[in-house]
Amino acid sequence: MRIILYLGKGGVGKTTIAAATGLRCAELGHRTLVVSTDIAHSLADSLDHPLGNEPTPVAPNLYAQEINVVEEVREHWGKLQGYLGHLLQRRGMGKAIAEELSIIPGMEEVVSLLHIQAHAEQGRFDRIIVDAAPTGETMRLLTMPESFQWYVERFYNWGDTAIRWTGGILRRLMPDKDPLAKLPRLVEDVNRLREVLTDPQTTSYRVVLNPERMVIREGARAVSYLALFGYPVDAVVVNRILPGLVSRAPGQVEVAQPSQDPYLAGLQTIQARYLAEIERDFYPLPIFRAGWLEQEVVGLDALHELAQAIYGPADPAQVFFHGPTQEILEEGDDLVLVLPLPHLELEKVRLTKRGDELFITVGNFKRELLLPGVLAQRPAADATFVDGALRIRFPAPEPLPAPEEAAPSP
Ligand SMILES: Nc1ncnc2c1ncn2[C@@H]1O[C@H](COP(=O)(O)OP(=O)(O)OP(=O)(O)O)[C@@H](O)[C@H]1O
Ligand SMILES: [Mg+2]
Repeated sequence: MRIILYLGKGGVGKTTIAAATGLRCAELGHRTLVVSTDIAHSLADSLDHPLGNEPTPVAPNLYAQEINVVEEVREHWGKLQGYLGHLLQRRGMGKAIAEELSIIPGMEEVVSLLHIQAHAEQGRFDRIIVDAAPTGETMRLLTMPESFQWYVERFYNWGDTAIRWTGGILRRLMPDKDPLAKLPRLVEDVNRLREVLTDPQTTSYRVVLNPERMVIREGARAVSYLALFGYPVDAVVVNRILPGLVSRAPGQVEVAQPSQDPYLAGLQTIQARYLAEIERDFYPLPIFRAGWLEQEVVGLDALHELAQAIYGPADPAQVFFHGPTQEILEEGDDLVLVLPLPHLELEKVRLTKRGDELFITVGNFKRELLLPGVLAQRPAADATFVDGALRIRFPAPEPLPAPEEAAPSP
């Protein structure tokens, strides 16, 4: 069983590529589900087929589903929320504040994830392709299991005590069954889910890009955060590439056939520059490419063509890259960022850090890296090559001065 999750900035083509990948998997004979976790669904438009909250058959071996998280949270968790609201009000909180506080953060994301978990465990599908919301929301989705668990455990303990203290009155307010009883089970499910989502044999994350500056930056940041949380990224898909561009060597892209139209020729030059940048900055991830088609990619025929253009004869569900794209190790108080760069010669490495951007220069090789917050707040000290990997050391920041000893009271 394989789960492939496409993420990237808004509008880059995530839904289209997820649908195309799903179709190709189904054509290869695998029972496939394409599932959308974006609240603003567009999967049905892309497949040109009506969809609902349950897997709907779309083509031989192909099912698709648009999870209705808002309704589901209301249906299954509304009672619990109402109940927590009552508890808070009994503690003297105003109604509006109590209701606001009773919303468990991340509940919607967790509902989406649990659907994927249920499909993964039921074994009805061999391939689950996830069409995710734009990067920010999806990163929230993926980092949710940990923070959600923390929150729910606190709430559970607190709610339990509150019941014991207030006894009968609250029991009468409670829905028929104890809604808190659901929580430990949920925490357990979320725990198992994280195991599935971080297992590189099962799950792969793919970043969808367009050759544009802001899109690349957001994608690079996503790769850093995925690495930080241990989510395995196995490829990059660059979508909407203009015709006439040729990659001579990794990081060297030329406009081989300039357009007669000066406007388009200008865009080709810009795209060539950004494509080269992608080849450098996302190394060593394999890069798949899709051209900018003349028409919107809607319906099974168009999706079939697109999948063919991206993956050719390859099975899109295979694992295209094994191993971490980057790792953060702890050495004493220092953090060490390890970047596999097996094809580089040993040369002097120059590091320039500006906020959360790190510029690495090794001979002719230049790479820009967006650092996760935990590294951005530290200085970058030195860089060394060890076993085909660049190791960059981030020493612990200067410790904060200890608070002055309080003067002994007279
Ligand atoms: N290679 C392509 N050539 C031409 N049109 C494309 C291509 N890829 C995607 N499109 C079109 O671009 C539009 C946006 O694509 P899509 O909905 O897949 O993006 P998305 O990343 O899922 O967006 P959102 O972040 O809003 O969910 C759609 O109309 C789609 O048909
Ligand atoms: Mg989409």
